[in-house]
Amino acid sequence: MRRVTILGSTGSIGTQALEVIAAYPEEFAVVGLAAGRRVELLAEQVRRYRPERVVVAGPEEAAALQALLGPETPTDTAWGEEALSAAAAAPAEVVLVAVVGARGLVPTLAALEAGRTVALANKESLVCGGELVHAALARGGGRLVPVDSEHSAIFQCLQGAAPGEVRRIILTASGGPFRGRRPDELREVTPEAALAHPTWRMGRRVTVDSATLMNKGLEVIEAHWLFGLAFDRIQVVIHPESIVHSLLELVDGSVLAQLGWPDMRLPIQYALLYPQRRPGERRPLNLAAVGQLTFAPVEWAAYPCLRLAVQAGAAGGSWPAVLNAADEVAVEAFLEGRLPFPEIASVVEAVLDRWGGGKAGTLEEVASADRWARRQAVEVIGQR
Ligand SMILES: NC(=O)c1ccc[n+]([C@@H]2O[C@H](COP(=O)([O-])OP(=O)(O)OC[C@H]3O[C@@H](n4cnc5c(N)ncnc54)[C@H](OP(=O)(O)O)[C@@H]3O)[C@@H](O)[C@H]2O)c1
Repeated sequence: MRRVTILGSTGSIGTQALEVIAAYPEEFAVVGLAAGRRVELLAEQVRRYRPERVVVAGPEEAAALQALLGPETPTDTAWGEEALSAAAAAPAEVVLVAVVGARGLVPTLAALEAGRTVALANKESLVCGGELVHAALARGGGRLVPVDSEHSAIFQCLQGAAPGEVRRIILTASGGPFRGRRPDELREVTPEAALAHPTWRMGRRVTVDSATLMNKGLEVIEAHWLFGLAFDRIQVVIHPESIVHSLLELVDGSVLAQLGWPDMRLPIQYALLYPQRRPGERRPLNLAAVGQLTFAPVEWAAYPCLRLAVQAGAAGGSWPAVLNAADEVAVEAFLEGRLPFPEIASVVEAVLDRWGGGKAGTLEEVASADRWARRQAVEVIGQR
């Protein structure tokens, strides 16, 4: 029986993880759940999975959860960032970090310091604090298993290869809902249109980031830290069908790929059960029915966010933390109707232009770069 803690249990990844867990009741016991504000859904999850500990965003949410659950409220119910880290570090065979945004970094570090296996969906942990994550892995002896479908694909392909045998990684990108349209044609794009991703159902931030391809840029940085490759050995190719989840080129020229329908439950299941596999009920991939798989080069001019992310990743230090924080603020402003879609990229670029660079070797260095970038992004948006 694997004890599992899920941070972000009410989100897109969290709810799909609970579907996987429900399909293998003999394999898993849910020992911890953490969510932000959707307390009604969390209360349902608590009733069904009976975790030992629960964490919510703040005191109001904790009181609301208590009111919903009454005597069924777990004794270990807490709120806030410290409680989230304590839940991450608590005994469990797997900790799924599926909260969204830079707030995922501290609990990821707490779990790794405690020697846990982290199933990592929260790419921002590696984007903002890659160096810190590596140090925590080395100190705590924990393990990192990627959940992002592209990185899971590479990780699965790597099971048959030694790290020294890798020549490069090729990440696939669907191109998002606005593929083929130029940034200046996108001023009228509404949040609803940006949230209608053609192949994946995801949370709001990652869906908007998929439309700008910022998400792919964050994934390039994530791949750099996960697989230890320089940025010129990580490439991106547009693949609108999202069937080939990514490719691994080996030194002899052989290219391995992992394929499947776009369904996050598969990489989630792989990460929760790693290194085992279990028979699953996933829709079988019938390539004859798919017919055609298409690939195209990235049109860099159409995706300024991808360019900015790769540049920030290659610059290193706290540049990626600044990029991520500025993007979080800009995406929120877009979703609230305060910023036109193409200006997400220009806000991020303006914030990066103001930044002088800095290290990201301590949590305080990362946090202060993040705070600075958020303030700058708010100011830049206010001036438009
Ligand atoms: N969705 C995908 O298909 C996908 C694929 C690959 C990678 N990822 C990555 O996985 C992460 C999660 O994405 P998502 O799409 O699942 O996001 P999401 O649907 O927005 O879910 C985010 C989760 O974080 C929780 N949360 C927010 N604030 C919190 C706080 N202060 N304390 C504790 N929990 C808090 C939310 O709780 P409430 O909703 O209750 O407020 C929710 O459970 C992101 O880093 C994303 O890049 C997602």
